[in-house]
Amino acid sequence: MTENSTRLRDGRGREVSYLRLSVTDRCNLACMYCRPRDRVPFIPHRNILRYEEMLDLVSLGRELGIAKLRLTGGEPFARRDLMVFIESILGRYPELDLRITTNATMLAGKPALLAELGVSAINISCDTLDREKYARVTGGDHLAAVRRAIDESLAAGLRVKVNAVALRGINTDEIANFVRLAASAPLDVRFIEFMPMGDGNLWKPENYITAKDVLALAQRMADLVPDRNVHDTGGPAKMYRIAGGLGRFGVISPLSEHFCDTCNRLRITADGKLRTCLFSEREFRLRPLLRNPKLGLPMVRRVIAMALRDKPLGYEVLDPGAAPESRDMSAIGG
Ligand code: 5AD
Repeated sequence: MTENSTRLRDGRGREVSYLRLSVTDRCNLACMYCRPRDRVPFIPHRNILRYEEMLDLVSLGRELGIAKLRLTGGEPFARRDLMVFIESILGRYPELDLRITTNATMLAGKPALLAELGVSAINISCDTLDREKYARVTGGDHLAAVRRAIDESLAAGLRVKVNAVALRGINTDEIANFVRLAASAPLDVRFIEFMPMGDGNLWKPENYITAKDVLALAQRMADLVPDRNVHDTGGPAKMYRIAGGLGRFGVISPLSEHFCDTCNRLRITADGKLRTCLFSEREFRLRPLLRNPKLGLPMVRRVIAMALRDKPLGYEVLDPGAAPESRDMSAIGG
């Protein structure tokens, strides 16, 4: 096999090697920026891909050169038997770089096994280090469980990233605490710019702060030295070492400084829809193909190739005047 025979490229020449697979749209939290309580009904079970169907998609992804797979939600651990699914993926593809994005409220007790199964990294969403604020932002009093899960993940040897959505007036006063957290343990803390998802009404200009302004606030309290992203070549985060600290602090700026030119991602929603851009409404329905024995994976492969031909540039989609994204982040998986 030649080096390039399995490389997947889009119509703009971008190499696509990273699949984000949402295993469920369900979540035990209702974060104010992601899925406000009672607003959207969950997808009915019959429309959620079965694990076998997801495994088929992963197999196809491997054939097409997908090297990195991230399981997202909703909350992935809200789906029953996730550990079994992970075991079957890594049993079949031990070389796959498998990562999970989770709110970590149900993670404690699992990191050792995840590490043993071969999971490489865990991204933990945690927007505040204050118990009461956590409950207000997420709708649940789970901060202690999350902190425990972070410690266990580090102890198990998993790479840990803590993601906080940057919310002006809500957690910008905690940047110093987050820098301290990153200094105290070998983990990455990343502040992500608040993106206008979910028909726009979650996003408020007064809560938006740019990555640059977050960095300026962080720089006030620590000496931050730019660091190369050795583990995430082409990843969107700008990371900084903290003088005298163990971990790193950084920012992700999808809005103020997009990284569309190097985007290597595909997304598949829990109900089996392929999205080639987080900001584009355009979806390709794979579930009916998977469930039709006459079409199956060969047709899925053709649809992926077709979808990739015009994988958009998110910043064009986000242009003022363009229709805003209407799906909540919880339905896409971030
Ligand atoms: N803007 C920025 N980040 C978001 N996330 C969810 N919704 C938004 C939003 N509107 C983040 C979560 C999680 C990741 C998957 O996406 O905090 O870390």
